[in-house]
Amino acid sequence: QLLDRRSMSRRIRKAYLDFFAGKGHSVIAGASLVPDNDPTVLFTTAGMHPLVPYLMGEAHPAGKRLCDAQLCVRTQDIDEVGDNTHLTCFEMMGNWSLGDYFKKGAIEMSFEFLTKVLGIPLEKFAVTCFEGDSDAPRDNESADIWHSLGVPRERIGFLPKAKNWWGPAGKTGPCGPDTEMFYWVGPSELPPAGSNPATDDPNWMEIWNDVFMQYNKKEDGTFEPLAQQNVDTGMGLERVAAVLQKVSNVYETDSLKKILAKVLELRKSTDALKDIEVKAARIMTDHLKAATFMIADGVKPSNVDQGYVLRRLIRRAIRSARQLGLNAEQGLCSFVSSEVIATYASAYPKLRQKEDEIRATLDTEEQQFSKALHEGQKQFDKLTEPLQKGQIIDGQSVFHLYDTYGFPVELTKEMATERELKIDEAGFAAAFEAHQKLSRAGAEKRFAGGLADTSDETTKLHTATHLLNQALRTVLGDHVFQKGSNITAERLRFDFSHPDKMTPEQIKKAEELVNEAIKADAPVSYSVMTVDEAKAQGAIGVFGDKYGEKVKVYTMGTFSKEICGGPHVARTGMLGSFKIQKEESSSSGVRRIKAIVSGGPAKIEVAGEKN
Ligand code: ALA
Repeated sequence: QLLDRRSMSRRIRKAYLDFFAGKGHSVIAGASLVPDNDPTVLFTTAGMHPLVPYLMGEAHPAGKRLCDAQLCVRTQDIDEVGDNTHLTCFEMMGNWSLGDYFKKGAIEMSFEFLTKVLGIPLEKFAVTCFEGDSDAPRDNESADIWHSLGVPRERIGFLPKAKNWWGPAGKTGPCGPDTEMFYWVGPSELPPAGSNPATDDPNWMEIWNDVFMQYNKKEDGTFEPLAQQNVDTGMGLERVAAVLQKVSNVYETDSLKKILAKVLELRKSTDALKDIEVKAARIMTDHLKAATFMIADGVKPSNVDQGYVLRRLIRRAIRSARQLGLNAEQGLCSFVSSEVIATYASAYPKLRQKEDEIRATLDTEEQQFSKALHEGQKQFDKLTEPLQKGQIIDGQSVFHLYDTYGFPVELTKEMATERELKIDEAGFAAAFEAHQKLSRAGAEKRFAGGLADTSDETTKLHTATHLLNQALRTVLGDHVFQKGSNITAERLRFDFSHPDKMTPEQIKKAEELVNEAIKADAPVSYSVMTVDEAKAQGAIGVFGDKYGEKVKVYTMGTFSKEICGGPHVARTGMLGSFKIQKEESSSSGVRRIKAIVSGGPAKIEVAGEKN
């Protein structure tokens, strides 16, 4: 039944979750694309991101075996988009063992799912294992398990850390050796004898990765064993769909194909697509899918952080539309986006709920960019007025058009050609490179803090965030809900719904309430229950479409009761004292508070389950 092509991605998704549920895994909801409480990454790039505290040892409310479908954004692959396999936005199917099964269980289940449920032919299958180094031994164990299942030795490659080790996602955190699964996509029907991904890399497409997360990479670069041996896996849904549908690229799979067709509906010409046009259409497909999901998760186009990435994706899509000669009038992006929503709404109902917002955001950004293009055109005219046919526009000016008016270099070149002018591409490349170095330095700094830090300082600030949330509700009213949270080792940042600027008295009162709760040194603990039970107990939380799932509810004395994954300090007194440093506007109807704690013990205890 998996071979019904129209809805194959949906069927693979369901088959995966059903299979792992049948093996004792709880199906959990995928997380937002914008990580909660985590200042170190812009987007969720793997299913394991939201699970870092649990991989580090915190108990998960749904148990030790989990699985889900996680929408991921990986912008590091942006320049590859347009080839057969790379996407900025893809779906990762994942299963996890939190200190439960390890290599044997993970490999056997992956193998059974691929060969029995999906029916992938063993002749086109190969794997790689970690070859070993001074940090961890050669993974003969995994290789032997694969072999015992029927994978020939010649199809088992060994590779070093650069290839067969996954994580940490940031600078520090859980990681370990992995074993990766591949499917033959080479020119011959079957792989030649002796070929495997270690010998014949480009002809093997990775489809799944089982990571054995048993190490924590520390600040100083060394690896310490984790308290529990975990498994973290990620299977690429679009790639598996391509394999099963026997197509050579992910844009011909059922879901992406529909979006690509929508893009081409706007094309005026009926000529066969040139290579550059194929690439442009694929970029539009991928980028507008990513943009649609980002907006659904609350991202707005801007010049910083997530908003900047969103803006870049939309603008690149519009530029690609121009290359394709599409009717680039108003509403182009939302036209394509409507197909993204239609295709994915059954698996991601939030797309339907946010439909109006998605359309309005895309339309506004498109209008603004059109205006910038218009301004840029004027600038271009001024610049080229004095030039004669065959002359060259200098690199700095081309870069200025790019940097100030958002003019992609291809566009400037196109316009120059129309006037029989040339552009100094090398000069542009040099100016661009200098600029890239600067922004890359910024991005690296951002990742340097490590992923979803569970240090003592961030744990304290996380507990303080709960107390503040309740204090604001007491002072301002029950219309206050968390709109965002971002915690570094130095401060908390809390966004909440409230229409007006807080008065100095209100700020003082909220601060006092938090400090009273700290002074009371109240015990903190959690209980596991269903969302309905949590609601009935009056716990604060975001009650979305996660109905039916088990959650943890943290209680802090009589002050606060809130749905949360943890971790938290064991007693409120460990926070020392609390100070609000700033109250400001975040966006329309949303206020932002930055606050710190100080004077608590350097070493904390972590809150446990209520007995
Ligand atoms: N976290 C692993 C990956 O992204 C499964 O490949």
